[in-house]
Amino acid sequence: MFGTNQHRSSFISRIALFSLVSIVLVLANCSENNGVLEPLQDNWEKAVPFQQVPQGLSSLSAETCGACHQDHYNEWKRSTHAHAWTDQQFQAEIHKKSSPYLCINCHIPLENQQEYLIEGLLDGDIYKPKKKKNPHWDKQLQQEGITCAACHVRDNKIVGPTGTTKAPHPVKKDPEFLSEGLCISCHNANATLTPTLACTFETGDEWKKSKISSEKNCISCHMTDTTRSIVPGYEPRLSHVHSFPGSGIPKSPDHHPDMFNGLDIKLAAVPQTLEKGKVLRTKLTLTNANAGHRVPTGDPERFIEIIQELRDPQGRILASQRDTIGEKWQWYPTAKKLADNNLNPGESRSYVLRTAPKRTGTYELVIRVDKHRLNKKSAHYNKLGEDYPLSVLIYQEVIAIRVE
Ligand code: HEC
Ligand code: HEC
Ligand code: HEC
Ligand code: HEC
Ligand code: HEC
Repeated sequence: MFGTNQHRSSFISRIALFSLVSIVLVLANCSENNGVLEPLQDNWEKAVPFQQVPQGLSSLSAETCGACHQDHYNEWKRSTHAHAWTDQQFQAEIHKKSSPYLCINCHIPLENQQEYLIEGLLDGDIYKPKKKKNPHWDKQLQQEGITCAACHVRDNKIVGPTGTTKAPHPVKKDPEFLSEGLCISCHNANATLTPTLACTFETGDEWKKSKISSEKNCISCHMTDTTRSIVPGYEPRLSHVHSFPGSGIPKSPDHHPDMFNGLDIKLAAVPQTLEKGKVLRTKLTLTNANAGHRVPTGDPERFIEIIQELRDPQGRILASQRDTIGEKWQWYPTAKKLADNNLNPGESRSYVLRTAPKRTGTYELVIRVDKHRLNKKSAHYNKLGEDYPLSVLIYQEVIAIRVE
């Protein structure tokens, strides 16, 4: 399996490699007509085959499902799944020549959502897909990214957990398909596509290795159980919340995703008064208490930033300490992970600021922790709008300390 990583890594690799890749692409185009056509192999190389609208429904769109499944629709709309295509960063990435055709397969997985049909790869080269216009392309459905049908429509039927006979549409019972395997098919990837395009998206593997995997899976944590009518007027039944809470970092200023906090953050007691010249020592401890995988997980560009500052009575920063939790990659000449200090499930780490204020007065200790999608440099490189949210604040403490 190959995964999410590739894509992420790919963008950064592109930063360094863009010009080189463009040259390779130009050369590649010259021999396009002489290549040998090789079939697509891995599931992430292919789209989910064309699906007809199931009997009794007017279209595959989430809005159509939402006319009856109102709660599911409203929850899904605030998920990042609903933004997997329209996301500014994703759009910036896929318009680069260095992004292979296959980037779309986990973001708009249904053939119905894709403008072109890919018949194979010339000489097996991911930069030389043989394309044909898709006569069934549904541009509206494309906008919906990982829409209801991406997880629920197969063999022109609605796939469901119980096979209920109350629905006005055909239902195929397949709880095995609607299991963590479905999530992992997109949320795990480990492959080197080209020397500079690696993929290390390992949320599935991280979960399998964790102790918690015997008790909880992607669905029990990210789609909590509830009892409710799944269509107004029907008997309440077992249901699952569809907002897929995660990092909580929005995709646009008016996007309000549900946040799932993996970290337990504790600050050891700090003295309210201190003798001048004496050392002030903070101890902030972060524990991956709630996630069934590492934090951060998935996209290698994500990181957690911990900032501790002591400001003097004039508001000037007297001492500061910045730490990050995340991965460091080199993309050129070959993609290689240089460092990784993501927190394993259950793991704790402490961060200390040490300083000795020399003058009397009231100082301010400011501590904050933010989750970041990517750093400002990458955002700038990708020309993301000023209003594109890059991070979300998850912890802040401001403590006054009197130095006497
Ligand atoms: C195997 C499935 C898969 C493929 C193929 C794939 N992605 Fe993704 N992509 C994901 C998943 C899953 C996430 C969310 C991961 C997370 O947040 O942990 C994601 C997230 C992203 C994001 C948002 C990152 C963020 O931090 O919000 C961008 C941009 C993106 N992918 C671009 C690409 C590009 C470009 C390619 C092709 C080089 C690609 N993807 C190929 C599965 C895939
Ligand atoms: C006209 C109303 C209506 C529309 C439109 C509709 N459904 Fe349903 N659906 C129902 C009813 C009614 C049930 C059964 C309710 C019950 O079991 O309590 C149901 C059941 C389901 C189930 C559960 C199946 C199981 O095995 O338990 C799923 C999943 C589902 N629908 C998905 C969808 C999706 C996806 C769409 C859009 C492509 C959609 N539905 C469109 C009315 C609708
Ligand atoms: C068809 C591929 C696909 C499937 C299937 C899939 N995901 Fe995703 N998921 C993605 C992509 C792509 C993103 C990132 C979208 C973006 O950032 O724009 C994502 C985002 C997420 C996020 C939010 C990440 C964040 O913090 O922004 C969570 C949580 C998540 N998925 C959980 C799940 C769970 C649980 C399942 C199984 C029930 C699942 N996914 C199935 C592709 C998929
Ligand atoms: C990323 C995959 C994914 C997407 C997208 C998704 N679902 Fe689901 N859905 C599931 C899974 C998995 C289950 C079954 C959970 C179980 O029973 O363990 C489920 C269950 C359901 C059920 C059965 C009742 C319940 O709540 O368990 C209905 C109805 C349903 N989904 C409707 C929808 C609708 C409508 C949309 C779009 C607005 C949608 N789903 C989008 C994965 C998805
Ligand atoms: C024990 C509960 C638990 C399990 C099991 C679990 N997750 Fe998570 N997941 C979390 C929490 C909590 C977060 C929020 C982490 C944070 O603080 O950013 C999270 C975050 C995420 C994110 C957002 C990326 C990020 O770094 O925040 C994705 C994507 C995701 N999970 C996918 C999955 C998938 C796929 C599976 C199954 C292989 C899974 N999760 C299993 C609890 C869980």
